[in-house]
Amino acid sequence: PASSMDEVVALCKRRGLIFPASEIYGGIANTYDYGHYGVLLKRNVTDAWWKAMIQERDDIVALDSAIIQHPRTWEASGHLAGFSDPLVQCLGKCKKRYRLDHLQEEAEAKGEDPALVKCPTCGGDLSEPRAFNLMFQTNIGPVQEEGSTVYLRPETAQGIFLDFKQTLNYARKKPPFGIAQIGKSFRNEITPGNFIFRTLEFEQMEMEFFVPPDEAEQWYEYWCQERLNWYVKLGISPERLRLRPHDAEELSHYSSGTSDVEYLYPIGWSELEGVANRGNFDLTQHAQFSREKLEWKDPQTGQGYLPHVIEPAAGLGRTMLALLCEAYDQDDIGGETRTVLRLHPTMAPIKVAVLPLLRKDGHPEKARDIYTDLRKRMSAEYDEGGHIGKRYRRQDEIGTPFGVTVDHQTLEDDTVTLRDRDSLTQERVPVADLARILEERIGG
Ligand code: GAP
Repeated sequence: PASSMDEVVALCKRRGLIFPASEIYGGIANTYDYGHYGVLLKRNVTDAWWKAMIQERDDIVALDSAIIQHPRTWEASGHLAGFSDPLVQCLGKCKKRYRLDHLQEEAEAKGEDPALVKCPTCGGDLSEPRAFNLMFQTNIGPVQEEGSTVYLRPETAQGIFLDFKQTLNYARKKPPFGIAQIGKSFRNEITPGNFIFRTLEFEQMEMEFFVPPDEAEQWYEYWCQERLNWYVKLGISPERLRLRPHDAEELSHYSSGTSDVEYLYPIGWSELEGVANRGNFDLTQHAQFSREKLEWKDPQTGQGYLPHVIEPAAGLGRTMLALLCEAYDQDDIGGETRTVLRLHPTMAPIKVAVLPLLRKDGHPEKARDIYTDLRKRMSAEYDEGGHIGKRYRRQDEIGTPFGVTVDHQTLEDDTVTLRDRDSLTQERVPVADLARILEERIGG
């Protein structure tokens, strides 16, 4: 794994996976753009999440709710009053602002005393904290007038609660069942983030699992384990994953129990995902504020109750960052240092690179034919530019697990060499078997 965030940041920039947004204007704080390979990796993560949540289960349905909801939503959810963080300002030279809780978390991850934090920029003392709401505000309509203020959602979860009744009506489900959603959320984060760990806009993968109240504890335990295992399946070593239960003063306003799935990033153990037992807090609040009945009624007994909610809430950026840190490696090939992303094949942006050995003698034409066939079945890339070793280095850096080389023998017996990114073995395989062999090794 990576030993510092800087090497991951540099690789992401060099290969165009992730880079600062608005860079030609000097960048904008805590905001990043995803380039070609970054987008492909992101798609692989969200696909894996949908597969685990929707495709492989029959007790969860999908939703895509609006980013801007009725402003009462945030009164009911408690975000307007409670979603604030303690902001401190440096009293020394630099006068920068920070979120106290983030500075304290970082100190704790480094094994330092969180009570003694100083300004990370200039070392100055910090002011007393004051409350600062994290929601971005905007207005509907041309004028900023009373009643036109709306908010960009700070979590996707509330959209799910607003549509709970709607979903019950059409989905033919009864508790225990879940609603899953992937989408952007927005928070006015102040602390300079660690790359994509904490950004102003970020994608969440959230699922609200509605259960009979007396089953809440059991489902909470279940989802903690499920979610931990999911990261192992993506290729993260169990040694760098852990579940950390929150203590009482750390719990959010809505939660009666939360565990974070944490990853050992180069900055220390930090949150990947939160699994929370939200009780019936949200449905109670929305029922009160909207005056709608949000109970589930048992058709047999006629008895109604407000389901309790277990919520695994993951961040797409944090998952990507963990995958990149985990996969990052350097080894030595023939006296040269090689940088390689040892991504699980299902996560790799490109599964196979097809490379003609020479740019003549019919190699490019044959390689293009093979590539054209393969790309119908998997994400593939064709590259004929430059020395073969250099082309492999490029693929190693974006984590491509397999390389296929077309050489003079290919034109004689229709076989190619198949190179493995990690073991570096090269074997000869018939072109006719190539797609099947690759699919078997990629799995999924
Ligand atoms: N609905 C519950 C909720 O939003 P959260 O712990 O505030 O809980 C869930 O957020 C996940 O969203 C976090 O574990 C993290 O992965 C991601 N996340 C939250 N704020 C983020 C930010 N500013 N940048 C990137 N990811 C963020």
